[in-house]
Amino acid sequence: MTTPSMFDPPEYQKLMRSIRAHFPGLRASMQASDEVTNAHVDHEDEAIAEALKVNILGDVGAQEIADALKRGVTGSPQTGSPAASANANADAVPESFDSCHTEDDGERAWAILENAGGSQVPASVVRAMAAYMTRSYVQIGAGYHMSTKGAITVDMAHRFVARLLNAEQTGRIILGSSASQLIYMLADCLRDTLEPGDEVVFAEAAHESNVTPWLALSRHHGIVLRNWEMDTTTMETCPVENLTPLLNSRTRVVIFPQVSNLLGTVVDVAAITKHIRARAPAAHVIVDGVAYAPHRVVDVKAWDVDYYVLSTYKVYGPHMGALYGKESAMQELQGLNHYFIPSNVPYKFEIGGSSHEGCAGLLGLIPYLKFLAKTAQCKKVEGPRGGWRDTTLDISRAEIVAAFQLMTHIERHLTRHLLKGLARLAERGLVVIGPAVDLASDAAVDARIPTVAFVSTVPNCWPSIIVRACHEKKVAIRSGHMYSWRMCEALDIDRSLGVCRVSLSHYNTTEEVDRFLAVLEKVLSEKHA
Ligand SMILES: Cc1ncc(COP(=O)(O)O)c(C=O)c1O
Repeated sequence: MTTPSMFDPPEYQKLMRSIRAHFPGLRASMQASDEVTNAHVDHEDEAIAEALKVNILGDVGAQEIADALKRGVTGSPQTGSPAASANANADAVPESFDSCHTEDDGERAWAILENAGGSQVPASVVRAMAAYMTRSYVQIGAGYHMSTKGAITVDMAHRFVARLLNAEQTGRIILGSSASQLIYMLADCLRDTLEPGDEVVFAEAAHESNVTPWLALSRHHGIVLRNWEMDTTTMETCPVENLTPLLNSRTRVVIFPQVSNLLGTVVDVAAITKHIRARAPAAHVIVDGVAYAPHRVVDVKAWDVDYYVLSTYKVYGPHMGALYGKESAMQELQGLNHYFIPSNVPYKFEIGGSSHEGCAGLLGLIPYLKFLAKTAQCKKVEGPRGGWRDTTLDISRAEIVAAFQLMTHIERHLTRHLLKGLARLAERGLVVIGPAVDLASDAAVDARIPTVAFVSTVPNCWPSIIVRACHEKKVAIRSGHMYSWRMCEALDIDRSLGVCRVSLSHYNTTEEVDRFLAVLEKVLSEKHA
C-alpha cells in the first residue's frame, strides 16, 4: 500500500491530478487550476485509450464467443439463441465531453460535493457506452455475430459486478434500473414465501426505499412490520440492543443500511448478520449498501448476507442498480418474469432485461479500477481462480481490493480535513449531525464515509439558505431529508427544511473542501432576515 507521504503537497497534487484526469465531469475544475495543463489531460486520455484497447473493450473475437456459448450465454431466455455485443472501442468515443463538463464560465468551476446523490463517471465508462451504442447497438438473442457480442457484454457485466462484490462463489447478480426498483422487486418475490403473521424488521435510519416495499405486504398480506429504532442519544443508526427484542422465529426479513445516507457511519454488517442468524434463523438478511459501496470494498461472502443492493450510478457507473442474492436464497423465489421465461437467475428476476449500454458502461469501470490498483502499487495481480479461463474480464479481486483501499486512504485524508474544518465552525453555530469522531484514530475515521449532515443555529440560516450560498459560489451540495424520512422524524428534524448534506468522493480535493468551508464561514457570519 501507499505510504502517508502521498499526502505531502507535491505528491498529493500529482495523485489527485492523475485521478481527476479520468473524470470528464471534473475536467472543467482541473482547467481552472494553474497546476494542471491540458497536456497532462491528453496524456491521461492516451493512457486510458491504451488500457481500453488491451482490456475489455477490444473487439470480441470468435474464441470468446465460442467460450461464452459453451457457458450457455445466450442473452435470450425465450429462445436460447446467442445474443448482444461488447464491441466498445475507445476510438468511437467523441473527443468532447461538453455535456458532462461542469459549467465553466471562465471563473472557477464547480466543486461537486454532492456525490452521495450520484458520482461522476470515468471517461472509460463514457467511452464504453458510446462505443457500444455507436458500433453494436443491436438487440441480443438473435444469433448473429454482433447480437452475440451484446449478450457477452451483458453476461460479463453481471460477472464483473459479482467480482466487485466478492459474490462469485456464493451467489448471483441481478441488474435493474435502481436500488429502489430492485428492493421492490425482491419484496414482491418474497411475498409468496411469507405467511400472515410473519415479521419484517426494517431500520428507522434507512432510506425509505428499504421500508415502502414492505408496507403493501403489511396492508394486504398480514405481514407484521417491526421498526428497528436508532439510538437518538448516541446517534448509532443500527444498535444491536434495539434489534434483539425484535427477533424471533417469525422474523423472515431484516433489512438495514450499511451506511446512513445522512450520517455516514458504517455499521458492522458481519456482526449484525451473525446476531440475526443466532436469534432468527428463518430471516433473510438484506443489506442496503448504496451509501457504502462507492467508498469501501464490498465482501458479501465474508459478511454472509442473503441480499445486498447498490446503485451503480453512485459507484462511478451508469444509472442502474445491482442486487446480489445468495444462490440458495434466490433458488427458492419464483421471480416475476413471464411464465414461459426459464426460471434461472438472473432472467427470472430481470423483467424486460437490463440496460445493454449500461452493462457496457459497467465494464468501462474496469480500466479505471485497474488504474487505481496500479497507483496503489498492487504488484500482485491474481487471475480468477478455477472455472472458465477468463480472458476478457480483465480484473482480479486483488485489484478491486487494492483500488478501494486507495479510495479509503484518500478519503481518510479528506474526511479529516472536512471534519476539522466543520469543527472550527462550531463556534459560529454549525452543528454536525451524528456521533463525534476521534480524528486522531485512522480506524475511527475509516468507520465513517465522507458524507456529513449539518444544520446551523444562526437565526434564519436555514439549510436552503446555506445551500443557495454554496451554489452561488459553485459549490454543489444539497439540503432536504434525502428520503431518510423516518430518521429525520426520530431526530426531530423538520422534514420540510431538512438538513444540509456535503458528500465527498475520492476524486475531490482538500482545495475544494476549503472552498466549501469558506462559503460556510461567510454565510454563518451574516445576518439572515
Ligand atoms: C442509502 C440509500 N439507499 C437507497 C437509495 C435508493 O437508491 P436508488 O436511487 O438507486 O433507488 C439511496 C439513494 O440515494 C440511498 O442513499
